Amino acid sequence: MLSNGFENKVALITGASRGIGLEIARELLRQKAKVVICARKQEGLDNAAADLQGGKNLLAVPAHVAKEEDVDSLFKQIKENYGKLDILINNAGMNIMTSSMADVEFSLWQKILDSNLNGTFLCASRAARMMKEQQEGKIVNISSLAARKASPGMGVYGVAKAGIEMLTRVLAAELAADNIQVNAVAPCMVKTDFSKPFWSDPSIHDNIVNNIPAGCLADPSDVVKAVLFLVSNDSDFITGETLVVDGGSSAI
Ligand SMILES: NC(=O)c1ccc[n+]([C@@H]2O[C@H](COP(=O)([O-])OP(=O)(O)OC[C@H]3O[C@@H](n4cnc5c(N)ncnc54)[C@H](OP(=O)(O)O)[C@@H]3O)[C@@H](O)[C@H]2O)c1
Repeated sequence: MLSNGFENKVALITGASRGIGLEIARELLRQKAKVVICARKQEGLDNAAADLQGGKNLLAVPAHVAKEEDVDSLFKQIKENYGKLDILINNAGMNIMTSSMADVEFSLWQKILDSNLNGTFLCASRAARMMKEQQEGKIVNISSLAARKASPGMGVYGVAKAGIEMLTRVLAAELAADNIQVNAVAPCMVKTDFSKPFWSDPSIHDNIVNNIPAGCLADPSDVVKAVLFLVSNDSDFITGETLVVDGGSSAI
C-alpha cells in the first residue's frame, strides 16, 4: 500500500458490514487508524466486528445513513468516543433493478436515492461541520461507472451516483479553504455480494469482462487502494475529482 500516516486518525466508513466498506475498514485498522463503521443491520455489524477484531480502535454503530436521527446519533457517538473525525468514506449504497424510468414507482426512486445520494449528503454535511472546526479533513464518496452511462435497470441508481459526483465537486469547492478535500471513486463492477447476481452468471460475467481491457472484474482491494490514496496526505492538492477504477473500460 502506498498510503501511510493513518495512526490515530479517526475514520468513519458507512456501509462497512461487508463488501468494499469492510475491506476499507480492515486496511485502515491495519494502518492503526481508529475506525467507526455503520450499517443498518445489527447482525451484519456484529459479524464485521468479530471479523475485524479492532478492539478499542473499532466502533460499530447501527445507522441508516438517510435517517437524520440515526446520522446525528452516529456523529454524537464519534464525538463522545474520539473527539474528532479526520476521514469520512461515504460507501453505503444499494440498488434494486428497476423498470424503465417511465414505470418506476416514486417509493422505489426515493429508496434508491436515500441509501446512495441522501445518505451521502447527510453524512458529508455532518462531517464537514466537525472538519471545519478542526480545519482539516478528507471525504471520499463512492460513486460508480453507472453515474456516466445509462444502463438498463440501473437508471435510478445512475442518477443517484451522478448526484454524488456533483455533490463531491460542490463540497470540494466550498471546503477547500478549510483544508478539507472531497473526492469520489467510481468503480466498474466489483466482486461483492452487491453485484453477485451479475458475476455469478457465467454468460453475464463474460459479457461484462469482454468490455474491461484489464480482462477481469475489480476486486474490493482495487477500490481500497484508490480510497486510501484519496484519504491520505499523498493527495492533499487533489479535490473535487472522481477517480475511476475500471480496468480501462472507460477508455474504449
Ligand atoms: N460491487 C459493485 O459492483 C460496485 C460497483 C460500483 C460501485 N459500488 C458502490 O460501492 C459501495 C459498496 O458496495 P458493495 O459492493 O460493497 O455493497 P454490499 O456488499 O452490498 O455492501 C453494502 C453495505 O452498505 C450497507 N448499507 C446499505 N444501505 C445502507 C444504508 N441506507 N445505511 C447504512 N448502511 C447501508 C450494507 O449493510 P446493511 O444492509 O446492513 O445496511 C452493507 O454493509 C456502494 O456505494 C455501491 O454503490 C459497488
